[in-house]
Amino acid sequence: RKARLTPGDIRARKGAEPIVCLTAYTTPMAALVDRSCDIALVGDSVGMVLHGLPSTLGVTMEMMILHAQAVARGLEHACLVVDMPFGSYEEGPAQAFRNAARIMAETGAQAVKLEGGTHIADTVRFLVARGIPVMGHVGLTPQSVNTLGGYKVQGRGADAERVAADARAVAEAGAFSVVLEKLPAALGARITQEIAVPTIGIGAGVDCDGQVLVIDDILGLFTEFRPKFVKRYAELGQTAAEVIASYAADVRSRSFPAPEHVFATETKA
Ligand code: KIV
Ligand code: NA
Repeated sequence: RKARLTPGDIRARKGAEPIVCLTAYTTPMAALVDRSCDIALVGDSVGMVLHGLPSTLGVTMEMMILHAQAVARGLEHACLVVDMPFGSYEEGPAQAFRNAARIMAETGAQAVKLEGGTHIADTVRFLVARGIPVMGHVGLTPQSVNTLGGYKVQGRGADAERVAADARAVAEAGAFSVVLEKLPAALGARITQEIAVPTIGIGAGVDCDGQVLVIDDILGLFTEFRPKFVKRYAELGQTAAEVIASYAADVRSRSFPAPEHVFATETKA
């Protein structure tokens, strides 16, 4: 485990070993992700997972920067990618550059991720030409939940062509990788074949060049809802609830603090 992985290293992994990506929002979780993963993504999912927001739409630049700074302190190896929040890039290339540059300068991010396909390709090209690596994100784009009409599977039937065109557009505009969210597995495989840069799937099948999930989902810490694509590897939320109940019972029964947790009047020799 040596030097920091770069967007260029990730790009070069197309067709090689699968790329492992997880979200992270805090320093201690970032340090854990760093041990086993290639990419740590500060996703705007932070709004729902850690701040109790009903969607990602309320996430701000300030929230993304604060969490990205925390995550950067936990990483030595993984490539740090930070989501651009809703409203920070959609007006056009100049607005996107201004906000992406802030994220890069203030956090140590190595790349930004933004949602969208053909309509955002010019913005991707503009950022990449000016020194900002971009990860694309097509298929289900949660910042567009209101126009998509929910968190539905994308790219079924004739809609496959739209999603494939979106992936091609951001790849051809210079994105170093593209997240494919919630697509039929066969479409995930087809797009992975069609574009020259790695696909990172989330609910897009096993043939993508890599996979990403939300860390609190795989740990069983975020249990508000559970998409089909989540594999829950542990029930840490359940464990935490049991620990907290034990502590509360101990305090109420005065069995905590015990002798080993208290201070004597005199210093012992
Ligand atoms: O915000 C997020 O966590 C994401 C990934 C799940 C792709 O965008
Ligand atoms: Na996101």
